[in-house]
Amino acid sequence: MNIRNIEDKVLLINQLNYRGNKINIYLTTNKNINLYALEKLCDSVGWVRRPFKKVKIAIEHSFLIISLFHIKDNSNILIGFARATSDHAFNATIWDVVVHPDFQGKGLGKILMDQIIQQLKYADITTITLFADPQVIMFYKNLGFLADPDGIKGMFWYPH
Ligand SMILES: CC(C)(COP(=O)(O)OP(=O)(O)OC[C@H]1O[C@@H](n2cnc3c(N)ncnc32)[C@H](O)[C@@H]1OP(=O)(O)O)[C@@H](O)C(=O)NCCC(=O)NCCS
Repeated sequence: MNIRNIEDKVLLINQLNYRGNKINIYLTTNKNINLYALEKLCDSVGWVRRPFKKVKIAIEHSFLIISLFHIKDNSNILIGFARATSDHAFNATIWDVVVHPDFQGKGLGKILMDQIIQQLKYADITTITLFADPQVIMFYKNLGFLADPDGIKGMFWYPH
């Protein structure tokens, strides 16, 4: 599936079994996402909260946003999210990869990552990096990511 400029939505999974119901899962690259829904999703995996204002700026300035959701009572329920920042030429970095615990283990994390990588490749970006929490290193390795290639180590600077 090619997801270039999907500002509306595409059907990703038809009739997924969820709590005795059949639901459809959709994907969109629309940046206009509900920040409260994103905060709720991040809360569901125990991430530390970030100021809304900054999250809004980060999303606006991201190269690519991918959201996964289902529709309940005419509302979009956000269940997956990932984004990438980029110099639009050589490099991109993937951030905030998350799938709601109720929907983990169903292949959605892999779909999110595959779609981000496909989109970045389409933009001719050849170096894709990310920072993996220890418990998800194998998840990313299975997707083809290498830890510290050529001995390169990530380095961080924080304000003192
Ligand atoms: C990491 C995360 C996005 C994976 O999403 P998911 O929808 O559960 O993953 P999938 O079902 O697509 O799994 C794809 C494959 O990765 C494997 N996998 C999933 N999570 C894994 C983990 N933590 N460690 C190792 N392998 C993992 C699955 O077993 C599956 O393998 P298979 O293809 O051989 O069957 C999800 O667990 C999550 O949101 N975690 C909390 C937030 C987080 O830690 N994000 C990463 C921050 S760096």
